Formats: sequence, C-alpha cells, structure tokens
Amino acid sequence: YVLGLDIGTSGLKGILLNGKGEVVASASKEYEVLNPKRGYSEQNPEEWYRAAVLVMKEIIKTMPDAAGKIEGISFSGQMHSMVLLDEHGEVVRNAILWNDVRTTKQCEEITEKLGTHLIEITKNKALEGFTLPKILWVQENEPDLWKKTAHFLLPKDYLGYRLTGNIQMEYSDAAGTLMLDVSNREWSKEILNQFNIDVEICPQLVESTAKIGELKTELTEELGISNSISVFSGGADNPCAAVGAGIVKSNQAMVSIGTSGVFLTYEENGDKEYKGQLHFFNHVIPNAFYSMGVTLSAGSSLNWFKKQFAPNDSFESLLENVNLIEPGSNGLLFAPYISGERTPYTDSDIRGTFLGIDISHTKDHFVRAVLEGITFSLRDSQELMREHTGKSFNQVVSVGGGAKNKDWLQMQADIFNTPIVTLKTEQGPAMGAAMIAAVGLRWYPNFEECSEIFVQIKEEFKPDSAAVKKYESIYQNYRDIYPAIKKISH
Ligand code: XUL
Repeated sequence: YVLGLDIGTSGLKGILLNGKGEVVASASKEYEVLNPKRGYSEQNPEEWYRAAVLVMKEIIKTMPDAAGKIEGISFSGQMHSMVLLDEHGEVVRNAILWNDVRTTKQCEEITEKLGTHLIEITKNKALEGFTLPKILWVQENEPDLWKKTAHFLLPKDYLGYRLTGNIQMEYSDAAGTLMLDVSNREWSKEILNQFNIDVEICPQLVESTAKIGELKTELTEELGISNSISVFSGGADNPCAAVGAGIVKSNQAMVSIGTSGVFLTYEENGDKEYKGQLHFFNHVIPNAFYSMGVTLSAGSSLNWFKKQFAPNDSFESLLENVNLIEPGSNGLLFAPYISGERTPYTDSDIRGTFLGIDISHTKDHFVRAVLEGITFSLRDSQELMREHTGKSFNQVVSVGGGAKNKDWLQMQADIFNTPIVTLKTEQGPAMGAAMIAAVGLRWYPNFEECSEIFVQIKEEFKPDSAAVKKYESIYQNYRDIYPAIKKISH
C-alpha cells in the first residue's frame, strides 16, 4: 500500500491505495484558518502535524490489515505558504498562507528591484500569495523573528520534516517561492543577494520522488506499525492534482472548476516565455514543467448567483434547464470578475458584468450565461498557451464541480474545442501524492506508467461543430468585455 497526504487550506486528507491504484481507505481532518487582521491568513503548522497523525490512525483503524503493509508515504500541499524554523527546528511564528494579502508593498518592491529579471528567473509575476514577499514582510515587521530564522519551509516539507526529522524541499514547491531559478532548477543567487537572504536558510532541493527518510519509530509505534515506511518528498498541490488526473505528458491539460478555476497543461521545456501572464512552475515529474491560468471566481460566481437569486434551489435544479437554452444564451454575456481576475489580467480592482440583457431572457438564460462566462474565462488561459506556443490539446480532463454536470461538460468541449473527459475516481492532489510514493518505491519506472494503472477515464464529451463555431464568435465578444469595463470603471 501507499499513503498520500494532502495538506489543504481547510483540512488534511489522506488516502490509502493498493498496488492496483484502488483507494481502499480515506480519512480527513479539518482545521482552522486564522485571520488575526483583515487580509491576514495564518495557520499553526502543529495543526497539520496533528491532523496527519489523526488521519493516519483513522485509516489504519478502517484497514487494520494494511497496518504492516504500508510501504511508502508522500505529500501534496498548499503552495507558497511560509513556515519559518529556528536552529532547533522549532516553528518561529504561525505560517503565513498563500491566500494572505498583506504583502502588496513588498510585491511592488520586488518588481521594482528585479525589473525584467524577475520573470526571466522565476517565470512569474510577484503576487501577494508567493513566499518571497512574505519573507520581506517578516524582515521588515518582525526583525527579531527573522534573526532567529534558520530554515524556511513550505507546508508539505514541514510535515515531511516532522515525520522523518529531515529538512529538504522539492522543485515544484520551491518554484512557488519566487526565489527559484525555474529553468535551471537552483536557488537564484541574484534574488537571494538582492533581498539579503542567506542561502543557508534555503533547504536542499530534491526530486518529488526522492526518499527523504523513514517514518520516525516513535510514530510507527504510536500507529501500531511494525515495518519501516519510506517517506518521499512529494509536491505542490496543483501539479499533484495534475498527475492525479493523468496529466503526465505533452498536449494534455486539466481544467479544474472549484471555488476558483484552473486551466493547467504539461510543459516539456523550461524555456517557455509567457511574460508572467500564466504561472509557470516546475512539475513533480522530473525535469518537466507546467503552466497554469487561474479564474478567481469560477464556482464561486455560480455560488453567488444561486445565493442571491435562487437560494432555495439545489445546484442540480438550478442547472436543470440550461440544455434548453441555445449556446450563447440568446445574446446574454457574463464576465465572472466578481472579485477581480488573475489570468490573464492580474487585476484585483476589475469587477464583473452581465451584458446584453433582453426582455425575453429568463432565469435559465442567466444561469447558462454564468456557466459560459466562467468557461470563457478559462478559455483565456487556454488561448495564452496556444498563442505563445502553438500548443493544441488532444483532450482536457475536467475535474471538480465543473465535472458534475453533463451540460456544462458539453459546453466545455464546445468552448475549448477539445474532447473533454472525466475521471472514474476523483481524489484531487492526494492521488498525485500517492502516485509519487508509488513511483518513489519503484513500483513503476515513471509517472506515465503509474498513471496508466492509477488513473481511469469515465466519460468523454466531443465538441459539436455547430456549437464550436457559434462559441468562437461569441468568445471574441467576450474578450472585448474586459477593456470596455476597465475603461468605464477606472
Ligand atoms: C497556486 C495557489 C493555490 C494554492 C492552493 O498558485 O496559490 O492554488 O496552491 O493550495
């Protein structure tokens, strides 16, 4: 068996898989996000550790036969969230999380000081969520704590450290710090020097499948396990989710529609130039990369609409009639910028709109327009991938809330003009974590072969040529919305 542990923002999820890639047990434990001030978002790393121990106990309780047969453990984790340790390996302060927005000033400072080098080296723009601006904030606002800092880690590396005693970090998470030279896979001396960060506090970099140690004996005893368990480094949650959805080679992409939406694709080469318009990070697959665009309010746009205008409907009944409305919602367009937008605009001030309201429109037109607007916004990310690299996709794997409704899945196939497939079992990033353990143990020589066994396709939705044509011209109208709103709202 292999165990995958995902350290999410609202809780930790664990899944136990057998050699055939079947999930035989799972458990999860929620924890809190602390908001000591407006815009602040923190967590006590001890909570992740406690949750991990509880989840492992729970899994062993449901599958007592597995107790002596777990061979490997690995992790996936929320990206960018900063953990600081002192020289004794004790936590210096609460972790500052990826969704904390206190660092606007530090981002401006980074952009100003590094100029074009920032994107050349890190491939990304400085956003509040990333780790470097958080470090600058601590240097400036908590100098005593910074002086005590001997190591910085990311959530899943902290958990790896607590389970094995060893400090390290792997490339896919290091890529989200804004301190990694992404294509050369090393800490950037230029960035560290510029911001007075001692390279000594940066952990040694390893592959996701590197064995970082064995589960501490005090833990195996507490869990009632007699054998030794290998622990592998793991990866950031987005590339783990990608691997868990079978995105392991070129021309494959994943669209994930949850609260926010992600369009992600596998990239072979590290020398791509997206000018920071898309995120570009190291993959958990050795020497591979991935690019990713984010729609901030994807599922959350639909959620907002339901809450305001159909609070008594279930999502199912709300979406029941969208198939009766023609593609294009009879001229009604929706832009989902209800809390700003990440890709392609990086604009936190922009707001959404409904455009073209007609006296004949019903609530169902509005529902369809919301789904279309969310999907157009994700098409913007796909379009950037196409424009910069001429990339096309053989198929796109759809996961999350957007994969639960057949009409929305067909809409995705028509708007992306690509076959859309769904998965038999969706386990999110925890699946990728378990696959890292399986590859780390050499059950499979690489992720491609592991994915053939572990990831099963359920259904396919093929683009309908008439709808594709119609959406193509409506999408061009959708693209004109942003500059128009920007002009009248600023
Ligand atoms: C990615 C990002 C989020 C976190 C969520 O850039 O900030 O997706 O990884 O855990």
